[in-house]
Parts: sequence; structure tokens; C-alpha cells
Amino acid sequence: MSSLFGTRAPLLADLVLVAEAVIAALLVYAFARIRRGDVNLHRRLMTLATLIQIGAVIGLMIPASMASRSLYLAPNIANFVRTYLPLHMLIGVLLLGLALFLVLVMANYPKPRRWRPIRFKLLMQVLLVTWLLTLAGGTLFSYFLKYVL
Ligand code: HEM
Repeated sequence: MSSLFGTRAPLLADLVLVAEAVIAALLVYAFARIRRGDVNLHRRLMTLATLIQIGAVIGLMIPASMASRSLYLAPNIANFVRTYLPLHMLIGVLLLGLALFLVLVMANYPKPRRWRPIRFKLLMQVLLVTWLLTLAGGTLFSYFLKYVL
């Protein structure tokens, strides 16, 4: 075990938190840019956030979960985490699918209109809120319960 933050977490789990902090900053900044009408920078930031998120899931989250298997957890916490994680993974997969779809749709913005969903701005708002909630949920219900409490 080795931890950047002085917790019981394996290094990989700490690196997840670092990656998620970078992603949160990118999401908030991308939102601020689009409010100012800077579509190009917004698109680049969202593409970067999506790629880092996919990398973090494959390269860090899943290996971190395996690295922490031998960790002792109180039965009630172990049960909670066991119930929460599949939900986290399902929402995460849907979220990344939507993020990839929007990144591809926006790649040629403002043309062609053919593949752009009618309510694409609403979809982006849903994506932003769900992404931040998934991030907060992972930090609280996975990292905090397993490695801090
Ligand atoms: C946008 C999507 C996602 C966000 C924002 C997110 C965020 C987080 C955060 C903050 C943690 C806590 C850090 C940790 O415990 O290591 C975590 C843990 C975890 N996530 Fe995600 N996640 C997302 C998608 C996914 C997906 C798609 C999967 C798998 C299919 C996944 C699997 C896991 C697993 C297994 C853990 C526990 C790691 C551990 O045991 O330490 N996540 N996630």
C-alpha cells in the first residue's frame, strides 16, 4: 500500500482522484467557455475530458479495484460498496457513451446538422450534472468509505 494522501488507498486509487480532479476542472472550465460562446475551446476541453475519463476507467479504476481486494472492510461498508459499485459502473458506461456521442456529433459543428440530436444542449447539461454527480459519488461512496473511514 502506498498513498498520496495518507489514507489506506493503493496508489492507483489516489491517481483516480487526481485524474478526477483534473477532469472536474476541465468540465467546469469548458462550461464557463461555452457560456461565453467559445465553441471551439469548449469542444476541445470536452474531448480531452472524455479521453482522460476513458483512460482513467481502463487504466486506473479497474486496476485500483483489483489492487484493493485484500483490504479488510467492515461488513456493512463492504455490503454498501458492493451494491454501489455496479450502479456506478452502469451509470459511468452510459455517461461515457453519451460523452463520446456528443464529442463526435460536435466534431463537425456547425455542420452537418444531420446527426445532431434536436435537444443536444439539454443532453450536454444532463451529461455535465451526471458526470459531476458520478465523480462525487465515486469519491464519497467508494474512496472515502473504503480508504478513509
Ligand atoms: C464518467 C464516469 C466516471 C467517473 C466520474 C468515475 C469516478 C470515480 C471515482 C471518483 C472513484 C473513486 C476513486 C477510487 O475509489 O479509486 C471511482 C471508483 C471506481 N470506479 Fe469510477 N468513475 C466513472 C466511470 C466508471 C466506469 C465506466 C467504471 C467501470 C466500468 C468504473 C469503475 C470504478 C471502480 C471499479 C471503482 C473502485 C476503484 C477502487 O476500488 O478503488 N467507473 N470512480
